[in-house]
Amino acid sequence: MAFNSRIKIKSLLESDETGHDVTIMGWVRTKRSNKNVSFIALNDGSTIKNYQAVADPNLIPEDILKKITTGACIKVTGEIVQSQGAGQQTEIISKSIEILGEADPEKFPLQPKKHSLEFLREIAHLRMRTNTFGAIFRVRHALAFAVHKYFNDKGFFYIHTPIITASDAEGAGETFRVTTLDLKNPPKNDKGEIDYKEDFFERETNLTVSGQLEGELAAMALSEIYTFGPTFRAENSNTARHLAEFWMIEPEMAFFDAEDNQNLAEDFLKYVISYALENCQDDLVFLDQRASEEDQAKKVELRSEMGLLERLNFVVNNEFERITYTEAIHILKNSTPNKKKKFQFLIEDWGVDLQSEHERFLVEKHFKKPVILTDYPKEIKSFYMRQNDDGKTVAAMDILFPGIGEIVGGSQREERLELLTKRMEEMDIPQEEMWWYLDTRRFGTAPHAGFGLGFERMVLFVTGMSNIRDVIAFPRTPGNAEF
Ligand code: 4AD
Ligand code: MG
Repeated sequence: MAFNSRIKIKSLLESDETGHDVTIMGWVRTKRSNKNVSFIALNDGSTIKNYQAVADPNLIPEDILKKITTGACIKVTGEIVQSQGAGQQTEIISKSIEILGEADPEKFPLQPKKHSLEFLREIAHLRMRTNTFGAIFRVRHALAFAVHKYFNDKGFFYIHTPIITASDAEGAGETFRVTTLDLKNPPKNDKGEIDYKEDFFERETNLTVSGQLEGELAAMALSEIYTFGPTFRAENSNTARHLAEFWMIEPEMAFFDAEDNQNLAEDFLKYVISYALENCQDDLVFLDQRASEEDQAKKVELRSEMGLLERLNFVVNNEFERITYTEAIHILKNSTPNKKKKFQFLIEDWGVDLQSEHERFLVEKHFKKPVILTDYPKEIKSFYMRQNDDGKTVAAMDILFPGIGEIVGGSQREERLELLTKRMEEMDIPQEEMWWYLDTRRFGTAPHAGFGLGFERMVLFVTGMSNIRDVIAFPRTPGNAEF
């Protein structure tokens, strides 16, 4: 059923039928005119492809034609005919054109030329009207849809975990505070400290850094669940991989051990990438081209070995490498960049955290494919990870992707109450506040595991963009909350 008389350009392009009248609406990308006729390239966002409208000055009044400038929004009614020109099968011969919204060519910031990605970030409210960003957001949609489809098809339940919480799930202390207290004049207790009892929730609260802990509660009842929501981290990382507000997908499964968790993660990642390959062809072909142009501008040694489409197909069709942290340290310690002191952080001893330069070396230079790194030292991982029998490591897994580094972090969870509380003590995690989390270990505890996929990092990988600020509509980063 159509909701109005407008036809989307995507549907129009799917048929080569001619001879009928239609109405299309969209934004003018370009207009070329000669004495006899104007050619208008119209885009309505339904596809990367424009549709050509032909306007004859004998039929369309001059004052209307004048207002058809790049960026203007118009409504065209006319007949679909076989196109004379190359580049399109059919085109519309305009019988009437209505200007829905003018765009003063002197002031409209998006001109039909190449703008830098940095400039486009400053006009994020308009950048979706470019081919690049239209493609990115259509692909982003397809990936989000694929996430839900994958889990729904597998019988996982979508749980909505709270955005405001009183816990810091990752224990990293990088939370944004939520308060309604008057910051200029906060209530104080007898000790002179801010009295959060007077605050909205009668306690200190923050925006969530992860839905995992609540996800675990749900898995202890529904057995296989996932979350897909916004998460917030106040880490002051001004990198091309970090956002202060990002979306995370967190499946959590009862009765899964570490290996089951790895199997699911690998299958899931391959599924969403294949879904995009199957459903976003036009956009991915365009992004592949864009990425290769960007690559050509780089020094030879910095260029990617594979094009975007090639890389996506490669990841879908090859098994991920699975190695332990200990094996990775061995490889890194003996690697050329380590020996030649090319790493910024040299690898000397077992126990150090891996930096993104190390992760990328393993993925891009050593194995040349995605790597699942497991069994990290317990000191560098969160309290909830299951302790291995060696007493030194935990059943953690990080998945590393080419060009991205860490895309997934997860683990089997510590389901044994004694070991969990002992670890919380060692790490100074207050147990009273987490009574509800510990209750799952007290009552009907079960082995379980899960992971978190950073959604924007996945969008980054699939679109071949290089800065995470370009794959979320309105990025939040240190110093940046415009729009
Ligand atoms: O490795 P992280 O911190 O793991 C967790 O939050 C666990 N609770 C997940 C779980 O086991 N359920 O974050 C998971 C993923 C990272 O691998 C990365 O892809 C992404 O979230 N991520 C970020 N993405 C963008 N900006 C940031 N600041 C990010 N921090 C983490
Ligand atoms: Mg992590």
